[in-house]
Amino acid sequence: MIYFDHAATTLQKPPVVGQAMLAALQTAGNPGRGAHEPTLHAARIVYDTRTALAELFHAEDPACIAFAANATQALNTAIGGLLSPGDHVIATVCEHNSVLRPLYRLREQGVQLSFVGVDDRAVLRYEQFEQLVRPNTRAIVVTGASNVTGHATDLPFVAQVAKKHGLLLIVDAAQTAGSLPIDVQALGIDVLCFTGHKGLMGPQGTGGLYVRPGLRVAPLVVGGSGVHSFAEAHPAEMPTALEAGTLNVPGLAGLGAGVRWLLEQGVEALHTREMALTRSFWEGVREVPGVVLYGTLAAPRAPIVSLNLAGEDSARVADALWEEYGICVRAGAHCAPQMHRALGTVEQGVVRFSFSHQNTEAEVRCAVKAVRALALEE
Ligand code: ALA
Repeated sequence: MIYFDHAATTLQKPPVVGQAMLAALQTAGNPGRGAHEPTLHAARIVYDTRTALAELFHAEDPACIAFAANATQALNTAIGGLLSPGDHVIATVCEHNSVLRPLYRLREQGVQLSFVGVDDRAVLRYEQFEQLVRPNTRAIVVTGASNVTGHATDLPFVAQVAKKHGLLLIVDAAQTAGSLPIDVQALGIDVLCFTGHKGLMGPQGTGGLYVRPGLRVAPLVVGGSGVHSFAEAHPAEMPTALEAGTLNVPGLAGLGAGVRWLLEQGVEALHTREMALTRSFWEGVREVPGVVLYGTLAAPRAPIVSLNLAGEDSARVADALWEEYGICVRAGAHCAPQMHRALGTVEQGVVRFSFSHQNTEAEVRCAVKAVRALALEE
């Protein structure tokens, strides 16, 4: 089997991830719910994971990191907890439904939305960010990289627009956390939402958000916090403010192990390897007759390449890649409807190959051969 579906979830995790999860499962109590050794041990596991993530994202303090079940929950928290009726928000056509659907729901309550489009290379039309600013604009919500084309957003540019107009900058880092270097302080990001199970090498069911110190995000969920039990309101201090109920300690133990492994390897070094594979694949399939590639290799990117074989349905191509060649990819719409409208692929979808530093050049060569053979069958 060749696994090229890392944008959906990374399959091969460093062995320390599973080891840390099993150890936590067998030894961790409930963090913040007592003072006996198993609960203190659990609290240390959670704190170590916060610390590792704070280091990775260059956060001011580990308390800026609150955990969630995934990027979707983190984005719902950030978007729902910062925007009010009457606010205007700028997003982009590259967004995933985890951004779009919370925004559409808020639109029904009186939040106004505008979307930055893409040009004919599927690159964001950056000049539109500033053109779309209105007196009531409160925030820019933008993906770090499209999960369809792989194009990375020029965050320094967007951050400078946000700063100039006093807007909040909320970044969906589902495709970039652990895959591209992110420095929240240098970029002036107010909220960074991430998932644990992709580039961060953790298990599914983990994720969270960085919140800039001093910014108050209204919680999506309130309840048990282990502190101030007689107060009617959920505690307002980060990270407890955004963490109600028992945390996924085994999952967070695995996430912490994954992030510490990344810190040892260095995100830039891993990204360089991923980009070498991405370029090899792109160059290998570029000239194959009938192959349509989406986006441009010239743009900064996450390790994602999407294509179609002439007019063939993308799901049929993905099935053939799996059944005839044992290659795992993701076809269809990738929960990114506006991106597909912009690409003109609403009916056909696209076949998405997404790479990891765990992959090899030999695997890429196999995939290029498979694409060539399938294209010839068309
Ligand atoms: N959002 C994930 C993807 O792009 C699941 O595949």
